[in-house]
Amino acid sequence: MSSEPSFDQLRSSLLNLSEPMGKRTRAVFYLRTRGGRDDLNVLLQALVNKADSELMRHELAYVIGQFQDSHACATLEAIVADELDECMVRHEAAEALGAIGDKRSLDILEKYSNDPAPEIAETCQLALGLIKYKNSSVQEEALLDRNPYRSVDPAPAMEKTKSTTELKQILLDPSRSLFERYRAMFSLRNRNTEEAALALGEAFNDNSALFRHEIAYVMGQMINPVTVPALKKVLIDDKEHKMVRHEAAEALGAIGTPECEEILQKYVKDDQQVVRESCEVALDIIDYWK
Ligand SMILES: [Fe+2]
Ligand SMILES: [Fe+2]
Repeated sequence: MSSEPSFDQLRSSLLNLSEPMGKRTRAVFYLRTRGGRDDLNVLLQALVNKADSELMRHELAYVIGQFQDSHACATLEAIVADELDECMVRHEAAEALGAIGDKRSLDILEKYSNDPAPEIAETCQLALGLIKYKNSSVQEEALLDRNPYRSVDPAPAMEKTKSTTELKQILLDPSRSLFERYRAMFSLRNRNTEEAALALGEAFNDNSALFRHEIAYVMGQMINPVTVPALKKVLIDDKEHKMVRHEAAEALGAIGTPECEEILQKYVKDDQQVVRESCEVALDIIDYWK
């Protein structure tokens, strides 16, 4: 593999919309790994360009949140408040505000927790739950299921003492708050046993598209082949929300078996742009690591 690209190369690859999607996605990854203020500013500059694709901009908002730097709040808040912007981008911007966890964002999250788009309203409710949790005294990280992934998640895991059966019950209980159900989801992800992975698959029957998309997202982190049948079912369902199908495509790319590659090849021609591009990026990643 070639040596790491320079900051200037990364900056120009990302900001040039005519560069291939795979190259630009890798530039985002490298900027995230570098992790400095200059890198963050390039990502923010790319995020506000509405000429870019919804897929790229939602990825940028996600990655920006992972920096956990309040410097990004004003830009992210403006996106959440822009009701004409793409739903997936606004969702990731709201989630990023939760990941940053600055109390300055509470008002805007409160306001959009009643947004007419359920994906936005639910994301804002989760972000509020997370900021409140972070500022409460109850958190005891050592007692929770340890997160082996490097992500800043929209909710913490649950206590290690909970059995997988209990976690599954909480996950699938629509009478519980989304925040609690997310906590069970992240505990199951962290355990990543066959039983945990199959429990997560059952959550694809839930009514919330946001919840289902997060299930597919965590499956992409788990890289557990037992989830392939559930992910395939999501990707091939053209009535499923594009956000969920997108995460399923990326998760199949992360798992990367020949079976995954075969299905991604098929949906790289999907009617939904976000799904097509996700398959393209996923295939590019499989190819790149080969
Ligand atoms: Fe998301
Ligand atoms: Fe996504």
